Amino acid sequence: MRKKQSPSYAYIEAQILPENNDKILARRLSQEIGLEAISISPTEASLIKFVVSFINPQKIVEIGTLTGLSSLYFLETLKADGHLWTFEKSTDHAKRARQSLANYVQNKQCTIVEGDAFDLLPTIDKEGPFDAIFIDGNKGAYYDYWQWAKKNIRVGGLVFIDNVFLAGAVWGDQTQQKFNEKQVSAVKKMTSNIFSDVNFSATFIPTEEGLLIVKRYA
Ligand SMILES: C[S@@+](CC[C@H](N)C(=O)[O-])C[C@H]1O[C@@H](n2cnc3c(N)ncnc32)[C@H](O)[C@@H]1O
Repeated sequence: MRKKQSPSYAYIEAQILPENNDKILARRLSQEIGLEAISISPTEASLIKFVVSFINPQKIVEIGTLTGLSSLYFLETLKADGHLWTFEKSTDHAKRARQSLANYVQNKQCTIVEGDAFDLLPTIDKEGPFDAIFIDGNKGAYYDYWQWAKKNIRVGGLVFIDNVFLAGAVWGDQTQQKFNEKQVSAVKKMTSNIFSDVNFSATFIPTEEGLLIVKRYA
């Protein structure tokens, strides 16, 4: 969950907003269920969109759709014949995402896969390898998602992983937002696995949430 917006984010967002109608709808759909704070911020979304555009992606996977906001940013980077597969466990969230992503689903550019991403990711292995993967689902499975991502990202592809600071829990801060031992341990194990793998190069972007960008080299 995002903290109160920082002055730098407020400044950045004053320059880059407004978002288009589909994004405004996705944000409203998350507000209605009290989850706007876990939707991606415009600041982080515009950073990810900018970086992913460099690799001209054709196939993108997202874990954690919520109401489709980050999906919309990724979809704007795809070629006309590109595709986004986005995984969402909650039936209600997936239903809302079907509203905000309706045009892309209809144009066959986007598939919303409803159910547990851990179980369902292997069903799209045959569509890969993928150009970009965004991990933004349940934190306790981040290590497992990374294991899937490292096998299914193409050489030269990018993996984006959000919330890797767990509001400071990874360095031991006690915040109002509590993360359990399983979540902290999964994120720390994933991070150390990424930085010790010679086939990948990674960098932390010190956003409020902590964003990891990982590139596959070999
Ligand atoms: C942080 S939100 C995603 C926000 C979204 N990417 C955005 O920026 O607009 C995390 C989402 O992951 C979903 N989720 C949680 N566990 C999941 C699982 N096992 N498989 C797929 N989705 C899951 C939640 O229901 C929630 O909608």
